[in-house]
Amino acid sequence: MFNPKRVAIIGGYGLMGQWFSRFFSRKGCKVVISGRSRLKSFRAARNLGVAAAKSNSDAIKGADLIIVSVMAERLDGVLEELSPHLEEGQKVIDITSVKSVPVKLLHMHIKKNVALGTHPMFGPSAQAEGQNFILTPTSGKERAFASELRAYLRKSKFNVVIMSPQKHDRMIGAMLSLTHYVGFVTGDTWRSLKIHKFMSTSSTSFRFLESFVKSIVDASPELYSYLQVGVPNVHKVENEFARISREWAELTRRKDRKRLKSRMYRIERYLSRL
Ligand SMILES: NC(=O)c1ccc[n+]([C@@H]2O[C@H](COP(=O)([O-])OP(=O)(O)OC[C@H]3O[C@@H](n4cnc5c(N)ncnc54)[C@H](OP(=O)(O)O)[C@@H]3O)[C@@H](O)[C@H]2O)c1
Repeated sequence: MFNPKRVAIIGGYGLMGQWFSRFFSRKGCKVVISGRSRLKSFRAARNLGVAAAKSNSDAIKGADLIIVSVMAERLDGVLEELSPHLEEGQKVIDITSVKSVPVKLLHMHIKKNVALGTHPMFGPSAQAEGQNFILTPTSGKERAFASELRAYLRKSKFNVVIMSPQKHDRMIGAMLSLTHYVGFVTGDTWRSLKIHKFMSTSSTSFRFLESFVKSIVDASPELYSYLQVGVPNVHKVENEFARISREWAELTRRKDRKRLKSRMYRIERYLSRL
């Protein structure tokens, strides 16, 4: 049964690093964080009530679980730095929001230890309960660890889903990257139409969309720009969205109410089956 006593979080003063620090602290684990800046690590550790290490390699000493919580672009360097210091039996997980390339990097740098790709499908302000947590094992020993980790996470009421890194990335492209794209493009369209002039007379559906767009736009451009370019084939999903947008615009231009209605019913039928 997987039940870590000591957890090292690399990138521990970042948004998700802090989230995982609190999570594992509450579960009674000894948490040690590290980051690029010692000062920021020690300050964050004091606020979080956890320990800080002088370096990434110091942080992982004696840890049962190592969580690499850095942006995808940094993963290669961090894994290269950690790999010579790994101790027997230590488990490593990364939490980057894309999986195909990060999982390859885990395999490239970590040969003896179990290294599992994961993706918490929530942001740093979320509660654990009811959140989706994806695990992407690719070998027998990773699958064995994934099922232990799933049991551990389920105790905290996570909904844990196991899938391949490739399926994860297809899903992220069609769901997360497209969701962000729709949010940004809608915000950009409002900017272009100078929508603020009409805001005082907005409808409930507009306000609903406004809160969605703001939630996207207020999030990290660093992360969301990576989700546009780092997920394979997102441009294909976005081209499909653009193609369908053009079809809708053409039906509107032609004032073809019959077809517009029939497409509206078609979507309604499709969504009702989900
Ligand atoms: N935010 C989300 O909603 C979310 C959700 C799910 C998964 N994720 C994934 O979680 C990971 C972290 O995201 P985040 O939002 O927490 O980003 P973040 O706030 O930028 O945190 C990343 C942290 O990594 C640190 N770092 C960079 N290079 C490092 C190195 N060589 N050694 C140690 N630490 C280093 C950064 O320190 P400096 O600031 O000093 O550079 C920063 O504190 C990403 O891979 C992201 O895809 C994010």
